[in-house]
Parts: sequence; C-alpha cells; structure tokens
Amino acid sequence: MRDMPKVELHLHLEGAAPPAFVRGLAAEKKVDLSGIFDERGAYAYDGFVDFLRVYEAATSVIGSPEDYARLVRTVLEELDAQGVIYAETFVSPDFCGGGDLSAWRDYLAAMREAAEDVAAKGGPVLRGIVTPIRHFGPERAKAPALCAAETAGAWIVGLGLGGNEAVGEPKDYAWAFDCAREAGLRLTCHAGEWRGPDSVRGAVEDLGVERIGHGVRAIEDLALVDTLAERGIVLEVCPGSNIALGLYPNLRAHPIARLRDREVKVTVSTDDPPFFHTTMTQEYDRLADAFGWEAVDFAALNRVAAEAAFCDADTREKILKRLEAADV
Ligand code: ADE
Ligand code: ZN
Repeated sequence: MRDMPKVELHLHLEGAAPPAFVRGLAAEKKVDLSGIFDERGAYAYDGFVDFLRVYEAATSVIGSPEDYARLVRTVLEELDAQGVIYAETFVSPDFCGGGDLSAWRDYLAAMREAAEDVAAKGGPVLRGIVTPIRHFGPERAKAPALCAAETAGAWIVGLGLGGNEAVGEPKDYAWAFDCAREAGLRLTCHAGEWRGPDSVRGAVEDLGVERIGHGVRAIEDLALVDTLAERGIVLEVCPGSNIALGLYPNLRAHPIARLRDREVKVTVSTDDPPFFHTTMTQEYDRLADAFGWEAVDFAALNRVAAEAAFCDADTREKILKRLEAADV
C-alpha cells in the first residue's frame, strides 16, 4: 500500500504539522503550548470544536513565511513517504498575514518556492486551495477570497471553506465563492461533516462547488446521493478524520463504501493526519480490511482524484501517466 502512487485532495497545511514541528517553533519563540499536547506529546483535544481550538493554538506559532516554507518541506517529505505523488493543500490567508494581501503574497511566495523546489527534485507535486475559516464569519471570508482571486494561477488553484460548519449557511459565503469563481478558481467546500444533507445541498446549489470536503452525511438523503452521482460531484472523504472526531464509531459504519456503491465519485484523504493519528497508507490499509478493497479499487480511486484535481491539464496528464505506469 505504501508504494502505491496516491493523489490526496483534502489536506490542511497546518493540520499536517507534526507535533514535534510545532513544539520546535514554540520553543524557538518561547511560547508555552504544553496545554495542547498529551503526556506522550500527541495533540490533545476533546471533540470537533476543541480540535479547532487546538489547531488554531498550534498554528499560532507558525508565524512567518519562512516557518511556512519549512512546514511545506516537512509535509512534502511525509507525503513522499506515503507514496503521495500529487496533493492539494488548504492554505489560509487568515493565518498567513491576517488577510492582508501584501503579507499573503510573501507567505505564498515562500510556500510555493519550497513546494516547487521539492517537485523539481522528483518529490510530490503540491497545489494550494485558499480556505477562509467559516467560524470567523462571512464578512471575514471576503479578505481571503480577494487574496485568492489576486493570486489565482498555476499554484493557487481553488477556493475552499473550512472551520466550524455549524456557523452560518453556505449561501452566506456566496460573495467569497463568486469572487473566486470570477478569478478562474475551482471550488470546494466543507459540508456534510457536522451538518446533514441540507448543508451539502447548499454548497452545491448556492455556492456552485464541484467538490465537497467530506460530504459523507449526504448518505442521510438518498435523493441527494443520486444528485451528487448524476452531477459528478466529487467527495473528498477523510474516513480516519471522521472516526477520530467521533462522527462514526468505526469504518464499517462509515458511508464511504455505500456512497461509492451508489456511484458517487469518492476520493480518500487524511484531512489533518497527525491530529488523527493517520497516514494515507493507513487509510488505504483500513479500507482494504473493512471493505475488501483491492489494488484495482484504489487505482480507480486515484484516477477519480486525478481527474478531479484543480491543477492545469499538463500537470493532470503527468499525474495520470504516473498512476497508469503503476497500474495493476
Ligand atoms: N479544519 C481542519 N480540519 C477540519 C475539519 N475536519 N473540518 C472542518 N474544518 C477543518
Ligand atoms: Zn478538512
């Protein structure tokens, strides 16, 4: 499983920071972050809202373009170790320069340079999806959307919306999504994780997204499931994240296989791997154990992910060729 080439579409950059990386920065900056770790040094949180608090506390010490460049290199090293050849990562101007465009350009340049250096050396190819934070509210989503629109191009390829799904309705964020769409960005939105089918429907109908972050609770409305399948909406499913955060008790109870059986385009990602004690290889191993999925199933899954990637056509062709070369 580890060596199988993989495509990962749903990965939060700060959420992929290993605890040791964050502890190192906290020590350098003399910030006491001991409260967010357990006795073994892992991230410690109690449920989704507390997870978001710990996530933001960890992020608070990643404070400069250089820190973000280091984080990109660290994350790409781990992706490479998992056989990931292409990934899209959520990046937030709110955390990178407080929504200020000029500061964001500096952070982005540092992240992109680090990513392109790794790719030039044969490592995984990375692209960025700008992600306003939902619980910061619709007004505050406008600045990151403008940052996304101003820097849209070969590296910033999309707009997403992360954070607490309980806050507001998808349509409240339409301004940000319209702004990004007009700049040529592709669109995805977290939905159907902490709220049910209406949230997924809102993301599709009111925001016009072509992918959904999670989207798994669409299973609670089979008419919606059929709509997703008919329209080819792609779900960025993160089973380990859903289980770690208590959405489902175990993988057998998780709807990924049922969604796939009803011909929804599902893909597999890790979301925030060190927070959820997972890796791409582990996700695949567990899916194989729970549902009997074999190499051909994972190869098909990765082709779906490559087709749904927000990158340019040339990059997609290269990814598909690498997948094909390893095909079973
Ligand atoms: N930000 C990081 N991980 C997230 C998740 N699972 N849901 C919403 N926002 C997030
Ligand atoms: Zn996510």
